[in-house]
Amino acid sequence: MPYSDPRLVALYDTLNPFAPDTAFYLALAETSGHVVDLGCGTGLLACELAKRGHRVTGIDPSPAMLRVARSRPESDRVTWIEGDALALPFVGAADLLLMTGHVAQVFLDDAALLAALTAARSAVRPGRRIAFESRNPAARAWENRTPERSMRRIEAPDGSVVEVGRNGARSPTRRRPGASRLRRAIASCQSRGRAASRKR
Ligand SMILES: C[S@@+](CC[C@H](N)C(=O)[O-])C[C@H]1O[C@@H](n2cnc3c(N)ncnc32)[C@H](O)[C@@H]1O
Repeated sequence: MPYSDPRLVALYDTLNPFAPDTAFYLALAETSGHVVDLGCGTGLLACELAKRGHRVTGIDPSPAMLRVARSRPESDRVTWIEGDALALPFVGAADLLLMTGHVAQVFLDDAALLAALTAARSAVRPGRRIAFESRNPAARAWENRTPERSMRRIEAPDGSVVEVGRNGARSPTRRRPGASRLRRAIASCQSRGRAASRKR
């Protein structure tokens, strides 16, 4: 699973920084007391929400992603839970439940998605909201995805340079054992996208 590979997790925030979708969810949460971020990942949004005074619960099954989340400056204001939707009955009623950054796409069949949404519905107060994202296949985004267009170089937190693209990622200077698995994982991470580009 890509979110458990520490090399990929280390690149996650560089590939997925504060973006228009983050601002969208912050605005959506404005009138909400308790916000549950299911699939909170590295906790960027959860910590921003906490900074703004919301009570926040961040849930994610990946210890590696949560490790990054817990290292953020505002992390002590968030209740972090290593788990998934099964934890929802134990977190207290939510005013808003979020599954951002295509978390809904981790549920690979209708039964899994329905189970997650059913648990989410039970977790929010009556009349309050659940927000999640979906792809728009009518946009045919894949037609514009060529290796040339998507390839870019990023600097990893350890200072190394990594080339990232739809066909994977590699170090421009040297190849390391396990690199092809990392390339597949990064391609998967990139497919996560961001709300701004998802409207294509
Ligand atoms: C693309 S990341 C999104 C992270 C964060 N929400 C964001 O917007 O950056 C998907 C996250 O879903 C988590 N995830 C995977 N399976 C899950 C499940 N069954 N329930 C909840 N989260 C899950 C992964 O560990 C990962 O952190």
